[in-house]
Amino acid sequence: MANLNIKNNLIGESETFHELLGHLSKVAGLSRTVLVIGERGSGKELVAERIHYLSKRWDRPYIKLNCAALSDELLESELFGHEVGAFTGAVKQRRGRFELANGGTLFLDELANTSLRLQEKILRVVEYGEFERVGGDETRYTDVRIIAATNVDLPSRVLEGKFKADLLDRLAFDALTIPPLRRREGDIMLLSNYFAVRMVRELGGDLFPGFSENASRILEVYDWPGNVRELKNVIERAVYRSWPFKGEIDRIETDPFDSPYRPVEKKEERQIVKETKEVPGLKERFSFKREVNVFQKKLLEDALERNQYHQKKTAGLLGLTYNQFRGLMRKHGLV
Ligand SMILES: Nc1ncnc2c1ncn2[C@@H]1O[C@H](COP(=O)(O)OP(=O)(O)O)[C@@H](O)[C@H]1O
Ligand SMILES: [Mg+2]
Repeated sequence: MANLNIKNNLIGESETFHELLGHLSKVAGLSRTVLVIGERGSGKELVAERIHYLSKRWDRPYIKLNCAALSDELLESELFGHEVGAFTGAVKQRRGRFELANGGTLFLDELANTSLRLQEKILRVVEYGEFERVGGDETRYTDVRIIAATNVDLPSRVLEGKFKADLLDRLAFDALTIPPLRRREGDIMLLSNYFAVRMVRELGGDLFPGFSENASRILEVYDWPGNVRELKNVIERAVYRSWPFKGEIDRIETDPFDSPYRPVEKKEERQIVKETKEVPGLKERFSFKREVNVFQKKLLEDALERNQYHQKKTAGLLGLTYNQFRGLMRKHGLV
């Protein structure tokens, strides 16, 4: 079964995530291009891999390339290959990823910033399956399903003239947009427990004591700009810092750099001093966290009042899941 090839499970039970999985399995069977869109750390690579292993090409090569990590020239020869003498240092002939992926799937990660020149060449492979190696004039053919991923809005790039409209059309036979973690109701704790149990096993333990109410609240309320990748790090760190366990895990640090001894950048320091001087009577050092908390509480109170204290409605209006909203209410003593 193709499924057995999947090394990493896609965990999630929220409605938004289920919708994505449904969409994914529908498009997987067609040998068409798919554009995977999602914030950083939201699981684009896992999704692309799942599409491949659910497709008819599952036993053929699955090749990945991160397009943002390479210069234009290197990317070109990685994609299309090169002939001997194509450029200084090209002492051997080399096949590119389009050739290596023949019959299978090529995952082009972070494609948004490739040059218009390369976009043109990629378009030709997508449309006709044709290309030449760098420094070669023989036209070669390949049969590759392309899955591309991006965390930027490509239609806007097209309007700015930075991305070719015809390439976008061809890459996105269909587009799968992964919901950010903060919009996946219930999945934060599900994933937290999953990563925690794995970390406990890695530490050689066999019992995971669970998260305290306080820890769960912090996890639910945080907005996870780095999505599942960030959550995984935070959980693994929390588990290992509490090991050996003395009870439920209670301490969650979302910022590993948070410390009273954190070095202050010179520039920032000067700025703080300056700002402090400009505000007469301000002796206390400015606290970003405190200001944010005051602002958060005010937002909640205002929104509640506007919605006649209907909590579900207020949560929706604020773009929060109900759990996140309840967590914030508790945090600010509003319940
Ligand atoms: N739904 C999920 N279930 C389990 N692990 C996930 C899920 N989504 C992402 N991850 C994990 O989070 C990390 C980041 O995922 P990745 O696919 O590399 O994100 P992206 O490519 O969008 O930045 C990886 O360690 C991945 O295994
Ligand atoms: Mg990635």
